[in-house]
Amino acid sequence: MRKVGIIGVGEYLPERILNNADLEKLVDTSDEWITTRTGIKERHLVSKNEAASDLAIKAAKQALSSAKLKPQNLDLIVVATITPDMPFPSVACILQNVLSAKNAICFDISAACAGFVYAIVIAQQFIARGSCKNALIVGTEVLSSITDWEDRNTCVLFGDGAGAAVLSEVKTGGILSTYIGSDGAMADLLFMPGGGSRNPTTHKTIDNRLHYVKMRGNELFKLAVKSMTEAGHKALAKAGLSCKDVACFIPHQANIRILLAVAKRLGIDEKKIYINIAKYGNMSSASTATALCEAVKEGMIKKGDIVLLDAFGAGLVWGAVVIKW
Ligand code: ACO
Repeated sequence: MRKVGIIGVGEYLPERILNNADLEKLVDTSDEWITTRTGIKERHLVSKNEAASDLAIKAAKQALSSAKLKPQNLDLIVVATITPDMPFPSVACILQNVLSAKNAICFDISAACAGFVYAIVIAQQFIARGSCKNALIVGTEVLSSITDWEDRNTCVLFGDGAGAAVLSEVKTGGILSTYIGSDGAMADLLFMPGGGSRNPTTHKTIDNRLHYVKMRGNELFKLAVKSMTEAGHKALAKAGLSCKDVACFIPHQANIRILLAVAKRLGIDEKKIYINIAKYGNMSSASTATALCEAVKEGMIKKGDIVLLDAFGAGLVWGAVVIKW
């Protein structure tokens, strides 16, 4: 089996910003409530006519340039998204065409907030077994397109953005271990009922607001803490490492209280957590991806460091990856 590592990262956040004061004008909420309960101050939102692939292409180009690879060098593109441009074709195929990455096989995956972690695991398998050499993975979301802007329980949480990484064979370090899990019995804690084959779009589904995120936040909160803690422990144990070895912890940015609680349970010092939730909110698959990119760009991750990525989301799905940078 070949060693696989991340050799380039990229991100893109749309220009428009919606802050907590703006939300106070939309729903019965306050900056104080949002800040203390979630840690979010503002989020980026797409402009009219901007879709998931538009964000993905910008993040992907940055990741390819940081990896010093040309699109033609890619033989795999995996896009993690729950807000694709359209049900089909995949965002990955749209991306392939715009990039002219003619040699890549392309598909999307639906693993919500754990999508980027799942994409790392998938790309690693292809490269480790020798069926691919260079993979581009992207987490891209336009959550604003499925957010109910009249529901204060959810609309304060989400944002739009994209993060990308290029994976390739490496001589030293790279991915040391991965752990992923799923539990479909909890699907009704977080879902979007409308628009699929169960409830095809009709005037009635629109009137009943079925095309928006439905969430039971309180129950999810507890499961997020439990599952992310377990995933972190299991991935570290598989790598033969302990929490003390972790130089940088990159959790899914769902809620500041969730990520601090997970770090505490894992025994990881607060100073080692990369946190960008105040600027972006929860961007599902794009959260872990942009956090990794920014931690690299800001010098929080250096060569030889042990990095722990850890995520949880709708499905339910969760997972963690240990990387020696
Ligand atoms: N502004 C003001 N008050 C609000 C708001 C708001 N935006 N939203 C809810 N409230 C009210 C509720 O109505 C409730 O009022 P009540 O006591 O009169 O009924 C009160 O605040 C407390 O509500 P809770 O839901 O108990 O608040 P909690 O502390 O659990 O915070 C939150 C809610 C932020 C959603 C939290 O549960 C959470 O972050 N859960 C994780 C869910 C999540 O991240 N989902 C996204 C995808 S999954 C993932 O990424 C992990």
